[in-house]
Amino acid sequence: MKFLEIINVAKHFNHPTKGKIEVLSNINFSMKKGEFITVIGHSGCGKSTLLNMVAGLDLPSGGSVCFEEKEVMRPVPERAVVFQNHSLLPWRTVIGNVMLAVNSVFKDKSKKERLERAEHWLKVVGLKDHMHKYPHEISGGQRQRTGLARALAMGPELMLFDEPFGALDELTRSQLQDESLRLHFEENLSVFMVTHSVDEAIYMSDKVVMMNNGPNATIGKILEIDFPRPRERLKIFESAQFAHYRNECIRFLFSRATGGTGEPAPAPVATAETPIVVPGAAPA
Ligand SMILES: Nc1ncnc2c1ncn2[C@@H]1O[C@H](COP(=O)(O)OP(=O)(O)O)[C@@H](O)[C@H]1O
Ligand SMILES: [Mg+2]
Repeated sequence: MKFLEIINVAKHFNHPTKGKIEVLSNINFSMKKGEFITVIGHSGCGKSTLLNMVAGLDLPSGGSVCFEEKEVMRPVPERAVVFQNHSLLPWRTVIGNVMLAVNSVFKDKSKKERLERAEHWLKVVGLKDHMHKYPHEISGGQRQRTGLARALAMGPELMLFDEPFGALDELTRSQLQDESLRLHFEENLSVFMVTHSVDEAIYMSDKVVMMNNGPNATIGKILEIDFPRPRERLKIFESAQFAHYRNECIRFLFSRATGGTGEPAPAPVATAETPIVVPGAAPA
């Protein structure tokens, strides 16, 4: 069975004052079960819009998104989303937040089974000792882990990550990347991720889908990443192959930053509109 297919997808929004906003056009690609696919591109090019259509949170204006050979029309627990903003309810504990999702998906299971399920996934993401705390009592990384546990507890076929590590400090971000990689490997999770971090995309994915800038953004290039799994952070980051992939991505993104035709810009200077995480560069 085909897993995820994005066929000739186009998307525009009708804005009350700005009129028609053309975002995406002619988007085509497919993903196999168990793959880890990452979409990168400049801010505002339409990455989240694409992810939302895969989730079923929004519908294409043209073309179709098909998941397991059915057209995606609405969000379902089989395609769970983790956003940059954890969106936890502040008046519920960590386990209370996860239980909300579990209760709505597994209505036919006993209370005990539902609780065990929530506890299991909270333990998997390292929150065993924090289950009964409230969101304000835990760190940003732990809140993001709670969001991850909540998504995992729904038993998704496909995990959708919209810059889930974007707001975290570097160390926490690395830890969560590695844990997500472990889950992808050990639980055979399929992951569709959006990021603007080139390093993150290369380190984690099987394929990096690079998007051109909008309006009417298209896919510019798909880079296959050939590192074995499980991935070893230091070995990968220090490899010549990693540097090669990174150059490919940066060349692509900076050529788009200048609106050029594919030739790299002379100096890789990210602006507020183009917050690309450039390895080795000082933060803006
Ligand atoms: N609901 C909406 N209504 C109008 N315009 C939108 C809406 N959602 C996104 N857009 C516009 O679509 C473009 C792509 O947005 P988005 O997908 O969030 O970009 P990215 O995730 O790549 O930063 C932006 O120009 C944004 O302003
Ligand atoms: Mg976005």
